[in-house]
Parts: sequence; structure tokens; C-alpha cells
Amino acid sequence: MMHKRVAILISGGGSNMVSLVDSMVGDHPARPCLVLSNNFDAGGLSKAMDRGIATAVVDHRPFGKDREAFEAELCKPLIESQPDIICLAGFMRVLTGEFVSRFHGRMLNIHPSLLPKFKGLNTHARAIEAGESEHGCTVHQVTAALDDGPILGQARVAIEPDDTVEALAERVLFWEHKLYPAVLRRFAAGDKSPVNLP
Ligand code: GAR
Repeated sequence: MMHKRVAILISGGGSNMVSLVDSMVGDHPARPCLVLSNNFDAGGLSKAMDRGIATAVVDHRPFGKDREAFEAELCKPLIESQPDIICLAGFMRVLTGEFVSRFHGRMLNIHPSLLPKFKGLNTHARAIEAGESEHGCTVHQVTAALDDGPILGQARVAIEPDDTVEALAERVLFWEHKLYPAVLRRFAAGDKSPVNLP
């Protein structure tokens, strides 16, 4: 079997990256080809190295507000790794429409809310503040608009009356680690029908 090649972009601890990498074994139709970070300090880099996966870092800071120049550098190791699928996994840089269109139809993102609710940052605090009774996470195809694009899966989590941001974030993250691998497996097999958890 020819495996699909998956590049994973991270900015931080990389727990979602680990859940994706650890899922790509056995009869899974994909294998990781690169873990790429915009941040030398990303904790996920050593976890990728421990798993024998190629890593690369392109620091965004030297490029200031010049997103195109940053992305031109980011593209180099990415294209070299010849990915079929790109998974954003806690990658905290906004990508330009030009970059996204280059990988149209093969880039996924995980976002910690039930999209289309709570795009952007601080989703857990905003969900509690809004008095929502449920929250969760979404995996979607990446389009030029932020935290938008066709939904490939969602996992729902109840918000408790006295919930804290930390407790809620932890429960959502637990489901992120189930949802993203489930969606990737389906997507790599050519199936874009949505996954709904639990
Ligand atoms: C995850 O909760 C992910 O959903 C979120 O960042 C965290 C990364 O954790 N992503 C976003 O907020 C994207 N805007 P991880 O590095 O342990 O996977």
C-alpha cells in the first residue's frame, strides 16, 4: 500500500500531533513525514524526534508582519517533505489565502470550539462566559477564512454549572485527541463524511 504522507504543523506542546502520529500505524492509510514548527521552543519537537519523525523550524519572528516572506520560508521544508495531507495541530499563526490555496483540499485544522461558534482565541472562556451548555472541538478543512471551511468532525462536551476554563479545556483536549485521529484516518482514506463524537 502507498501511504499518504502527512505533515503536521505545531506551535506548542504538540499533544494533538502526538495523538495523530501515534495513530498512524498498522493498516492506517497514512504516515507522518514532517513535524514543522514556527517556534524553536515548541515542546512537541522533541516528542516528534523521540518518535523518529523529521522536524523543521521556521521562526516567524524575524519576518515581523511580512506573512508572505514567512510563508515562503515555511513552504521550503514543507514542500520538500512532499505531503499529501497537512494537519494544523495547535499551529498559532494565521496563514494567507495564497498559502492556503496552494494546499487546497488537503489541509486540516483542529479548533477548540463547536464551530461556527467561537472562532479565534480563548474559546473555553468565551463559551463559559456566553452561558453555553455545551462546548467541544471541531476538525475542518482549511480555507482562506480563519477557523472556517467544511467541517469534518466534532466532539461535544457538556459545560458544568461551576466549570473552570482549565477543567473545561482539559475535557475538550481529551476529545481532541480522539477526534483528530478519527477524522484523519477517514480523510486519508478519501472519506469526507463528518465524524461525530462521543
Ligand atoms: C489545542 O487545544 C488546539 O485545539 C488549539 O491549541 C491547542 C494545542 O495543543 N488550537 C487552536 O487554538 C488553533 N487556533 P497541543 O499543542 O497540545 O496540540
